[in-house]
Amino acid sequence: ILRSAARLPKAYETPLPLPPIKRPAGGVIEIAQRTASVEILPGLKTEMMTYDGVFPGPTLETRRDQAVTVRHTNSLTLPTATHLHGGHTPAESDGWPTDLLVPDGFDQHHAHHAGHETMADPKAQVRSKKRDYRYPLEQPATTLWYHDHRMDFTGPQVWRGLAGFHIIRDDEEDALSLPRGEREIPLMIADRAFAEDGALRYPALDPELLGEPGVDDRYMAGVLGDVVLVNGAPWPEAEVEGAQHRLRLLNASNARRYELSLRTSDGKSVRFTQIGSDGGLLSKPVEHAEITMAPGERFDVVVDFGPLAPGTTVEMRNGLGTGRTAQVMRFRVTRRAADDVKIPDRLVDVPYVEKPDGAVVRRWHFRREHVHGRRGWGINGKPFAPAVPQARVPLGSTEIWEFYTDAHHPVHVHLSPFQVLRRGNRGPGPMDLGWKDTVDVRPYEAVRVRVRFERYAGRFLIHCHNLEHEDMAMMAGFETE
Ligand code: C2O
Ligand code: CU
Repeated sequence: ILRSAARLPKAYETPLPLPPIKRPAGGVIEIAQRTASVEILPGLKTEMMTYDGVFPGPTLETRRDQAVTVRHTNSLTLPTATHLHGGHTPAESDGWPTDLLVPDGFDQHHAHHAGHETMADPKAQVRSKKRDYRYPLEQPATTLWYHDHRMDFTGPQVWRGLAGFHIIRDDEEDALSLPRGEREIPLMIADRAFAEDGALRYPALDPELLGEPGVDDRYMAGVLGDVVLVNGAPWPEAEVEGAQHRLRLLNASNARRYELSLRTSDGKSVRFTQIGSDGGLLSKPVEHAEITMAPGERFDVVVDFGPLAPGTTVEMRNGLGTGRTAQVMRFRVTRRAADDVKIPDRLVDVPYVEKPDGAVVRRWHFRREHVHGRRGWGINGKPFAPAVPQARVPLGSTEIWEFYTDAHHPVHVHLSPFQVLRRGNRGPGPMDLGWKDTVDVRPYEAVRVRVRFERYAGRFLIHCHNLEHEDMAMMAGFETE
């Protein structure tokens, strides 16, 4: 764990911030990637890489089937690649790690040294200054997020601030009785560590992020901070009315897992009603006492503050943390309030992905490897090589994919959401319901999923969403055709 040297605030003193919302104007949303000085710890400035000068970046709100162009301008000092995580997106807009957007005047020579792999990708589509990402959004209402995906340096660039929510809404969801307006709260949970002056700490081998990728050997398992941020604030407090609230939980941490639970100031446990997962609403609500989240995963939950007396506080705790990382945030019930939300017993139809006879079964082994002479991570025995896809997948096909691990790895697949069929020798676990795009595979456990590939031809990724593992080459390309 990376320790902060800065003075840290007491828990639950900072009000929960909400990122600004951006909607398309004429089908376009513009985002300026720039360096900004942000106040995260009280009285200190933290220099960050941001979308629009804020951390988290603005929350993009779009509608199903209404294509949007997100126009990014890079005024940072380093290249970026922006990925819409969970988006059903054409390859050229998916943020392939070498399809870089470099700042104006950036020395291309640098870009080539920025990760030895860039040069090894003749198909890389490098753009200068401005890049349009086109998202058809032909997918159900859900919580997506966008974040940096630059070759070899995703971990440090997300850590420095390149992450934001992207919410898709649709008529089917609007027709349901779910909490909305102020009673719908996105919560991006991410840990960080700070130097005495407020600067972010991160153990990059090359702090300039231009040369050697990865982190020093002590952080092989991934980088954990000692400060838990929610929407960019340390251990914040949110005021809520005594009513049901919809919380869109996102674990945007580089490597930290959370086991979230809720406990009132008078010692009672409050349950989560899960209504959605990574890729959309569930067919029916499911109750949980705890939500375990690996990096990249989202859980859409409803929490009922209605039975609690005004003044009651509800602490969100992390069962996998110790000391201050066991604390996440707190809710304070302000007053009694009318609440006519009635979570329906049936939410949406989640079509079951059928298994056609003779479906291809593909095995993906996530294991420790040597990468460019250093310790690193690989898939099926190989470190990531952008020009060499590890699989070719016909469009319109349904395949069974199996994930095998040596250590704990959250496995993420681009392009197509999947359904978990088996975890170890059992069925799906309690956190595996609905449409998933990231599944947490525990050490030496095999997870079997069914996935259907549709619509977009080109190259896509499967990788570990522990961002240090990803940067240390635990990523593979597959090509749809
Ligand atoms: Cu959220 Cu390929 O990543
Ligand atoms: Cu991993």
